[in-house]
Amino acid sequence: MKLWGGRFRKEENKLMEDFNSSLHVDKRLYSEDIKGSIAHVKMLVKCELLATEEGERIRTSLLSILEDIDTGTLAIEGNYEDIHSFVETKLTERIGETAKKLHTARSRNDQVALDIRLYAKNKALEVIKYIDRLQTSLEEKANANNVIMPGYTHLQRAQVITLKHHLMAYYNMLNRDRIRVLNAIEIMNESPLGCGALAGTTHTIDREMTAKELGFSKPVDNFLDGVSDRDYLIELMSCFSIIMMHLSRLSEELILWSSQEFKFISIDDAYSTGSSIMPQKKNPDAAELIRGKTGRVYGSLTSLLTTMKGLPLAYNKDMQEDKEPFFNALDTVLSCLEIMSNMISTMKVNTENMKKAVKYGFLNATEVADYLVSKGVAFRDAHSIVGSIVIYCEDHNKGIEELSLDELKSIYSLIEEDLYEFIDYQNILNKGIKVNILR
Ligand code: ARG
Repeated sequence: MKLWGGRFRKEENKLMEDFNSSLHVDKRLYSEDIKGSIAHVKMLVKCELLATEEGERIRTSLLSILEDIDTGTLAIEGNYEDIHSFVETKLTERIGETAKKLHTARSRNDQVALDIRLYAKNKALEVIKYIDRLQTSLEEKANANNVIMPGYTHLQRAQVITLKHHLMAYYNMLNRDRIRVLNAIEIMNESPLGCGALAGTTHTIDREMTAKELGFSKPVDNFLDGVSDRDYLIELMSCFSIIMMHLSRLSEELILWSSQEFKFISIDDAYSTGSSIMPQKKNPDAAELIRGKTGRVYGSLTSLLTTMKGLPLAYNKDMQEDKEPFFNALDTVLSCLEIMSNMISTMKVNTENMKKAVKYGFLNATEVADYLVSKGVAFRDAHSIVGSIVIYCEDHNKGIEELSLDELKSIYSLIEEDLYEFIDYQNILNKGIKVNILR
């Protein structure tokens, strides 16, 4: 059944019908669509646009449709234009004529805008839960591993840090991710129901009531904007893109750290795969897939930005293209957050190898310069003196702390015995906030 057709003389072309249909995508919105309709009906009754018994009949039947879909008794399939047509047709099949009154004072334009907004809001809250879970995994792993490791810049060993400090950097990124998503929810939290097709309705309706009923802070201020705003999807996908960028960076580190070259961690077998030809291989596929899937989330964001660019007000059918990229980005970010969380909590840390990497990386060179500064040397001069010490160490295959006082003095005479304590790795960590870093 079509929700329109009165003004048409010819049947719709079959190819066009398939081209136009969005049911296979928007069927995900069935629950929001039905709940939106129930709130709408309640409002119609209150505004005396629908008799109480009619409203009750529609409401009860909508609830039974919802239950049947939830339990699998009713499959969302068949020749319907979209989820709105599907639900209305089912309602008509169940209660007949009264169903035809449901769409009073409403358009599919405000209906779909409502459905996707409700869906996006609920799912954004779910994303926050997944972020929290990953943060917990990171924090637990960090606290259990307050151990020395090399910190890098340019992927060259730079200064000594702890694994806790390193992992908590991601925890902090995720904090910002959570705030960004919460902020997006706050901005989108307005109801478009009642905007009609673009210019409201001549009926006296109560938009405040439906907004409240559906958990929004208020109805939107402008009807044209209300039906054609998809900013919130773009904003959420932008948040998802940043989350994926963070997950991708973490993935890259896990991939590097689990390599034979680093051997800092080992990823649990449950999140690795093997090679069909090389029996010795254990590949970090989960991390690689997260890194790879980042591309599709960025792509989804770009896709909708491009769809919306240049659209005149108000609703245009182009906007039907909003759902696929959003659902895809959402599914991807949820599964990546979950897999990452499991991978972090099950990974094993090789403390010894990280310690070794610290030792052979001259990671106390900056502290030697600090030491010289404490003896009155200007930092720039100290920097250059330490450069000479490092060259000497390289030539003699030794760490700075392994040089004798005589060797050190031969490079710079002001160096004394107290240097050794100053540049001891654990002492370096104890001095800074580094070892005690909370978050
Ligand atoms: N399937 C449509 C969409 O997702 C629903 C709105 C249709 N509105 C219209 N005027 N044809 O955007």
